Amino acid sequence: MKIAFCGKGGVGKSSISALLSLAFLEEGYRVLAIDADPSPHLARLLEIPQEIVPLAEMTELLAERAQKSGPYYTLNPKIDDLPEKFAVTKNGLRLMVLGAIRTAGGGCACPEQTVLKRLLTYLILSSREIVIVDMEAGVEHFGRATVAPMDVILVITQPLRGSLETTKQILKMAEELNLKKVFVVGNRVKDPSQEEFLRKEFGGLYLLSLSPDDELESREFEGKGLWDYRGKLFTQVKELKRRLQELIGETS
Ligand SMILES: Nc1ncnc2c1ncn2[C@@H]1O[C@H](COP(=O)(O)OP(=O)(O)OP(=O)(O)O)[C@@H](O)[C@H]1O
Ligand SMILES: [Mg+2]
Repeated sequence: MKIAFCGKGGVGKSSISALLSLAFLEEGYRVLAIDADPSPHLARLLEIPQEIVPLAEMTELLAERAQKSGPYYTLNPKIDDLPEKFAVTKNGLRLMVLGAIRTAGGGCACPEQTVLKRLLTYLILSSREIVIVDMEAGVEHFGRATVAPMDVILVITQPLRGSLETTKQILKMAEELNLKKVFVVGNRVKDPSQEEFLRKEFGGLYLLSLSPDDELESREFEGKGLWDYRGKLFTQVKELKRRLQELIGETS
């Protein structure tokens, strides 16, 4: 199953990506987490201390796999060796970091996005294998359809105006791309009235609500990740895992 997390900045994409990776790992799944945010945080949240060279900095490899034709990069589809070569592993959990090439003047045809899309398209997974992608905030990856190969796209939203607007924009783009299995997950939903509001807003696309947990803030403050966090958000994320397994028809 290939799952991507999207949404406005700061809504909880990385925290929930990390916790869902840990929930699947706990159940014996083979997990590959991909940090596709140019400002990556998954290694910190998963308490992986090794330095990870982002894929985008593998310029030789990108040059070898990506050939520039006009303003775009075309790619040799040979991509399946990348996780083996570039993921770091912790207790069976593999993490790859995409990074970013930020050239002066933009450069919207970045090879790392093409590599990511190819990687997501060509990775063939067995039934107990999971790829979890923590996307960059906003809608850029929808513009490039990087998310198209995913089995499930989860748009994290908070019951706040700005977050709702981004979520609606994402849902509209997903519809235009004819993407199926795009769902909304509420995060930091304080009470039943906020949940009801989100359910009304998103109808059948609303999957479930996650509560605020102050422990996350204190962990951030103490510089601790989420590896051994077993608080109430983890229990709720395990329920999210169960719902995803149901949706994809994979039972454990
Ligand atoms: N349910 C929650 N309860 C309490 N704090 C939370 C919760 N979810 C996320 N947070 C906190 O909110 C902050 C932002 O979360 P996170 O970094 O996961 O969001 P993000 O969507 O990945 O942000 P960015 O767009 O910057 O990558 C973090 O300090 C995190 O600890
Ligand atoms: Mg993040």
